[in-house]
Amino acid sequence: MNKKIVILPGDGIGKEVTTEGKKVLEKIAELFGHTFEFDEAIIGHDAIEATGNPLPDETLTKLKNCDAILFGAVGHPKYDNDPTLKVRPEQGLLKMRKELGLYANLRPIKLFDELLEASSIKPEILKGSDILFFRELTGDVYFGEKGRKDDGNTAFDLMIYQRYEVERIAHKAFQAARTRKKKVTSVDKANVLESSRLWREVVQEIGKQYPDVALDHQFVDAAAMKLIQNPRSYDVVVTGNLFGDILTDEASQIAGSMGMLASASVGDSVGLYEPIHGSAHDITGKGIANPLASILSAALLLDISFGLKEESETIIKAVEQTLKQGWRTTDIADAKTPKEKILNTQKMGSAIINELEKVASHKLSVTSDK
Ligand code: IPM
Ligand code: MN
Repeated sequence: MNKKIVILPGDGIGKEVTTEGKKVLEKIAELFGHTFEFDEAIIGHDAIEATGNPLPDETLTKLKNCDAILFGAVGHPKYDNDPTLKVRPEQGLLKMRKELGLYANLRPIKLFDELLEASSIKPEILKGSDILFFRELTGDVYFGEKGRKDDGNTAFDLMIYQRYEVERIAHKAFQAARTRKKKVTSVDKANVLESSRLWREVVQEIGKQYPDVALDHQFVDAAAMKLIQNPRSYDVVVTGNLFGDILTDEASQIAGSMGMLASASVGDSVGLYEPIHGSAHDITGKGIANPLASILSAALLLDISFGLKEESETIIKAVEQTLKQGWRTTDIADAKTPKEKILNTQKMGSAIINELEKVASHKLSVTSDK
C-alpha cells in the first residue's frame, strides 16, 4: 500500500510523542511491505511564531492533499495566562477540524489490564471497562457565535446545534454500536438546554433506524458521576463537543492515564489522529512524556483510514506485551514499579519497535507453518 501521511507535531510534548508515533508507522511499513511517504507541517504556537497564523495556508494545503494526519498537540502557557491575546494556538486546531469537516471524534477508552493499578479509581470498579466515545467536533459552543458586549463586561458563546449535525454523529455512534455491545448512551442537558432537547429528539429519531441497538439518555452531570461509579455500564457514548471534551478527560482515568488515550477525528475527507492529551508544557523537554497515546493513534490511523486491521492490531499487541513486561513511563508507573522499569519517551518508543518486530516475526512464522 502506498500512502501519504502528514506529521503535525504542534507544540510542547506534541513533538516528542509524534516522533515515536512516526517511528512506529515506519516500522510497520517496513514489516508489512507498505510505502508511507511522510511530510511535516506546522500548527499552533510554533506556527504563530513563524507566520502569525496558527494554521498557515501551506499547512492546510498539505493536510487537504494527504491520506491521513498524525497530530501531536497545541498550546502554550503564554496564552493560558493571558486571556487578552487574540491569536491563539487552539484556533489552529479548531480551524483544522472545521476546514477538514472532521465532525466525529472517536475516543476509545480501553483499559490495558496491566494498568489496573495506575488509575486513581479502584481496580474492581475498572476491570473490563471498554467505552467508545463519539464526541461531536465541529459544532456547539466551540463554533457558535461568540463575543463581548456592554463595553466588554458581558461575554457570550452560543451553544448551537443543527439537526443534520446531530444526525450524522448519531449514525456513526449507532453503526459502531452494532459492531460492539449494541448499546448507545446519549449524553446531553435536555432538562435545561434547548440545543440538548433538539439533540435528544434527533438521537431518538435516528435510534428508530437501529432497533437492534439499545438507546438510553443521560444528563451530563449524572453521566460525569456514573462514569467513574460504574464505567462498565457504558458501551458507546455519543455527546456534543463541550460535554465530550470534559467527559473524555475524566474517562482517561478509566484507562489509567491521559498518556494512554488515542483519538480519531473523521468526517468528510482525510482522517486526523491524535492523543487526547495536550501540549503539557510542564513536562516538555524532559523526555518523560508517554508516547503510547500517539503510538495508539497511529494504530487507529492504520485501521480507520487505511483499513489495515492486522497492522493496527500488531501495534496494540506490541503495546500490550511491552506493558506486560513491566515497562512504564512515569505517568503509568505505580508505587510497585521498580525504577529501572521506568522508561523515557524515546526508550518507550524503541521498546514498542522491538516488540513489533517480535510480534510480526511470530505472525509470519505462524503463517508459513500453515
Ligand atoms: C481536545 C483539546 C482541545 C479541545 C483544545 C486544545 C482546543 O482539549 O482535543 O480535547 O477543547 O477540543
Ligand atoms: Mn480536551
